[in-house]
Amino acid sequence: MIIRPRRLRKTKTLREMVRETSLSIKDFIYPLFVKYGKGLKDPIVSMPGQYQFSADAIAKEAADIWGLGIPSVILFGIPQKKDALGSESWAAEGVVQRAVAAIKEKVPGMVVMTDVCLCEYTDHGHCGAIKDGRVDNDETLELLARQAVSHVRAGADFVAPSDMMDGRVGAIRAALDREGFTEAGILSYAVKYASAFYGPFREAADSAPQFGDRAGYQMDPPNALEAIKEAILDIEEGADMIMVKPALPYLDIIRRVREESLIPVAAYNVSGEYAMLKAAAEKGWLDGERAMMEVLTSIKRAGADLILTYFAKEAALILNKNRM
Ligand code: PBG
Repeated sequence: MIIRPRRLRKTKTLREMVRETSLSIKDFIYPLFVKYGKGLKDPIVSMPGQYQFSADAIAKEAADIWGLGIPSVILFGIPQKKDALGSESWAAEGVVQRAVAAIKEKVPGMVVMTDVCLCEYTDHGHCGAIKDGRVDNDETLELLARQAVSHVRAGADFVAPSDMMDGRVGAIRAALDREGFTEAGILSYAVKYASAFYGPFREAADSAPQFGDRAGYQMDPPNALEAIKEAILDIEEGADMIMVKPALPYLDIIRRVREESLIPVAAYNVSGEYAMLKAAAEKGWLDGERAMMEVLTSIKRAGADLILTYFAKEAALILNKNRM
């Protein structure tokens, strides 16, 4: 007798009945870039279909995103002026702070997250304060906490520290609680690798380091046990959700972190993952839509509960269409 797995693949309906993983619009968190100015929607060349918005224009975009069923956005700010400490990042009237307030006013139900980091705001492009040519961990904690508090004061529901300093989740949690923001959550970029796949983002956010690289604080790509250690530490420090980043080259890490953790695990389908697929599709080398859905499904199958992705709107359109 031949065992025949193909029986379950015979028709579309049957395949849908036995499907093990399903992608939902509610899984998506959409990254948005915000900068100074009025009425701006400037295309990001290396990320076709993505834009830098001014704070006034971003609320309308958020309303469109919400209208598609996408529950959440994460904001990245491009400041007017950079300095050694990235002080504009905690300005009450900074770009992110204004964008958060504008979105909350127009779309109150949306879960608004903010990226907490200094690299976009420092003139040297590193994710913290520099001392003797190195990013000083403990001095940076205070700056990150200040930034996180200012985002939450503007209305952010979650802050997402992406700097990879040791102890920052605990420092941010303590600062938020001290200010009375006990309800604000932390989505920690717990497992963030020093990856080449952030290339297009650094153009979009103007955040490339001006000397050296980030290997002294972001994780070494060959390491997996260290990912579990980082995840556990951030959970102990009070993270409400944790993230693995990038997603595609680290599907094994997503799976392992999912199995070790009792809180939601997000994965960041980063700019380089987006750009390479878009570029190949543009050349006609692959079917962009199918490849996108396959990639997103693979991240979910690996164990991610949530996916930060520039594909959120496109994928939502397809998921909405399939439902009808
Ligand atoms: C840093 C930050 C980066 C990304 C998110 N937050 C870049 C970096 O660490 O250099 C990358 C996101 C992407 O590539 O889509 N604050």
